[in-house]
Amino acid sequence: MTTSYPRDMLGYGRRAPDPRWPNPGGTGPAKICVQFVVNYEEGGENAIIHGDKASEAFLSEIVGAAPWPGLRHMNMESIYEYGARAGFWRLWRMFTERSLPVTVYGVASALERSPEQVAAMQETGWEIASHGLKWIDYRDHTIEDERADMDEALELHEAVTGEKPLGWYTGRSSQHTLELAAERDFLYASDAYADDLPYWQETRTKPLLILPYTLDSNDMRFATPQGFNTGEQFYTYLKDAFDCLYEEGEKGQAKMLNIGLHCRLVGRPGRAQALARFLDYIGSKPDVWVATRADIARHWREHFPYKPSIQPSRLERDIFLRMFGGVFEHSPYLAERVLDRGIGQAHDTARGLSAAFAVAFRRASEAERLAVLRAHPDLAGRLALAGGLTAESSAEQASAGLDQLTPDELTRFTELNARYVGRFGFPFIIAVRGLDKHAILRAFEARVENDPATELATACREVEKIARLRITAILGE
Ligand code: GUN
Repeated sequence: MTTSYPRDMLGYGRRAPDPRWPNPGGTGPAKICVQFVVNYEEGGENAIIHGDKASEAFLSEIVGAAPWPGLRHMNMESIYEYGARAGFWRLWRMFTERSLPVTVYGVASALERSPEQVAAMQETGWEIASHGLKWIDYRDHTIEDERADMDEALELHEAVTGEKPLGWYTGRSSQHTLELAAERDFLYASDAYADDLPYWQETRTKPLLILPYTLDSNDMRFATPQGFNTGEQFYTYLKDAFDCLYEEGEKGQAKMLNIGLHCRLVGRPGRAQALARFLDYIGSKPDVWVATRADIARHWREHFPYKPSIQPSRLERDIFLRMFGGVFEHSPYLAERVLDRGIGQAHDTARGLSAAFAVAFRRASEAERLAVLRAHPDLAGRLALAGGLTAESSAEQASAGLDQLTPDELTRFTELNARYVGRFGFPFIIAVRGLDKHAILRAFEARVENDPATELATACREVEKIARLRITAILGE
């Protein structure tokens, strides 16, 4: 692989696909997809009675709690118990009364400790995705340990629910989590926050469908230092997020709104009212698709299946150099510099890769840039007549009809070439795409009169344009 920058900073870029969300009972596609996750973690959190080293410290009413090594933290434990005992049922009723579907992120060990709640989830057809074996932080786990926990989570999940989970979300993930998810056959994985739409991610084993999740429109912000203080703030935040995406959907750019919930947090009465108001708000709007993550993943797989394409950032070095070594005339070392600098998925488009090549060219020394200019053959020059051009140059010159000149035109080119090289010390270079021989001659006659600094800058810009056209010819638009 050549990729030395392993992140995707482009995604869908300027033009995200129109997801054409289903719209049961409506006409035309839905304007927004809303997806509610109820995290079921209570009973799977850190606790010494669960074999952990310390008590839980994350996402509770005790903001900024410290873990208690080796001790039971009875307040913390009972805060979590509230989620299982009371908060869950409040949420369950709220969604069930409105017939709204939900995806549960179920921690396998927590599900095992809550058979009544699991039965209720299944009674109402909630999707139960896997939220790992235990609700712990995987950042420091070895890949082998994390893989073993994933295996055990899946085995326990199936034993408890009778079904394999279709989706995976670790939460406090590691750098290996998505690679490990891709080793299995999930419909989707959700340990990512990078977009408003599902997307395919390349991994070592196979492409993985990501349904990105959210840590902002999420009740966890009630339990973090900079978070929601009141239900009103939560409601306003969710409503703004919904309205923003709904407006985008009205313009044909529909998106997906994730909302993350926790039984022990929003299940508290002082917060639950805000959620109820939000559910009623979206219920008052037409063309809203509320779906489980599994439904969304099935829709995406059907309408936007993975499509392999040439990805320069994932090519072996020698293949990359064979494909792109000729982008700058006789100067493959610039393609090497592009690789050494590091390219990622943002450079897998013609525009992105051209930008990386332009950076390499602009950062080359002046002597190197001059050498690139001098590496170009004259237009309609001796080399062209003798058939000694590179494939790229030959195609470019032929596309402008320079291989079909009349004797007078050839004489004119020969005179201008001599004058130009005498004046500037490099050949006249012009990106010929869209130009015929007459337009090229006109440009030639004008530019030969330029002052040297202006002409050097112009020639360099033309070389960058030629590079872009050569890359586009390989990758397509
Ligand atoms: N413009 C596009 N290709 C070429 C080339 O090979 N030589 C010169 N001089 N200009 C070009």
